Amino acid sequence: MDMISILEKKKNGQRLTREEIAAWVHGIDEGRVPDYQSSALLMAIRLRGMDAQETADLTMEMARTGGMADLTSIPGVKVDKHSTGGVGDLTTLVAAPLAAACGVPVAKMSGRALGHTGGTLDKLWSIPGLSTQLTMDQFTRQVREMGCAVIGQSKELAPVDQVLYALRDVTATVDSLPLIVSSILSKKIAAGCDAILLDVKTGSGALMPTLEDSLTLAREMVRIGKMAGRRMMALVTDMDQPLGRSIGNALEVMEAAEILKGREPGRACDLCLEVALRMVMLSFGLEEEEARRQVRDALCTGAGFAKLKEMVTAQGGDAGALEDYTRLPSAREKLALTAPEAGFISGMQAQTLGLAANLLGAGRASKEQEIDCAVGIVLNKRVGDRINCGEAFATLHVNDPAHLEEVESLVRQAVSIAPQAPKERPLIYEIIE
Ligand code: URA
Repeated sequence: MDMISILEKKKNGQRLTREEIAAWVHGIDEGRVPDYQSSALLMAIRLRGMDAQETADLTMEMARTGGMADLTSIPGVKVDKHSTGGVGDLTTLVAAPLAAACGVPVAKMSGRALGHTGGTLDKLWSIPGLSTQLTMDQFTRQVREMGCAVIGQSKELAPVDQVLYALRDVTATVDSLPLIVSSILSKKIAAGCDAILLDVKTGSGALMPTLEDSLTLAREMVRIGKMAGRRMMALVTDMDQPLGRSIGNALEVMEAAEILKGREPGRACDLCLEVALRMVMLSFGLEEEEARRQVRDALCTGAGFAKLKEMVTAQGGDAGALEDYTRLPSAREKLALTAPEAGFISGMQAQTLGLAANLLGAGRASKEQEIDCAVGIVLNKRVGDRINCGEAFATLHVNDPAHLEEVESLVRQAVSIAPQAPKERPLIYEIIE
């Protein structure tokens, strides 16, 4: 099929057929379509859009370009969860073992940190010895035998997404709804789960900062996932402030362990419970109240924490580090940042705090950069808390002081203090089923 006529059609705002989309996607996979033609088509899609059928066709053709994971040997409805990216977002570390403790087969493929947002793999790597490089056989056996495994997204799954993602990054075409939907869902569908729980973030630290765009993205992903035969649910959740009080890999692992021990109530704990109970609903077809009761039990009895330790041990990690935190990496210096005036914390900009943590070494500026698992930021106060003049609102955990001044200035810029308490933002804006 001729790429120029496909380009002409989309340039003129016409819809593409499944055959045309397949010709483009498989042409990339087989090295027949040059980057300049793909870039032109990406821009035409960005400007002209795609309807639901085109987006579903693009998603499925991308999912088919590599190997599709086969999880059929695992009994039950296998559930994956996906967050569109957040700061202090430790949800997987808590929700996956909680859902698994309730009997849900959790087969989770995770990514590394991206931009200002953290990645589950980096967090898990801060546990000494833990490996996420399981073979597909090891992965499926672990899910079958103990109900939960987390591995890195295989490069063989939806490889065309890697090509398109790299081109989008340099052609100003990242912010296109059909391209985001197909990019995320093609990888999730190729990963082989029967059900997908999406946590679509909204607010200053999210991929889609406005609520309207986040809702549209969530609804579209649910619709396209269902068209691909998957059970789908999406939560649209707040990412205007970091979810947990820790930003940084080992720091977030500690906070996740504290939540699972029932010692850290708050917004992060609440969201983890909501995510876990919806994974239970998706897998067992249960009503919300029954799923909520099961997940609460898994938290209160410590079954969720036991499941996390079991998973860490199965993947070669030191589960004792989840009890004795001195066995986790820790930073040499801790520097408290104090309030210049009394009042209420009225805002904590998630994106700026994520960038500040990256500058300390918790994230990457380039794909190759090594992460320092020990460093990051702990928020001593949360939005809405009262603060006295001279009281600490954040603590920097530092190994390399090279960018310390810039980090301090970013954190101070991100945190605002006002005379009155701000209106509380909802944690969950909408649940889309
Ligand atoms: N994450 C992805 O995998 N793809 C996108 O397009 C955006 C976020």
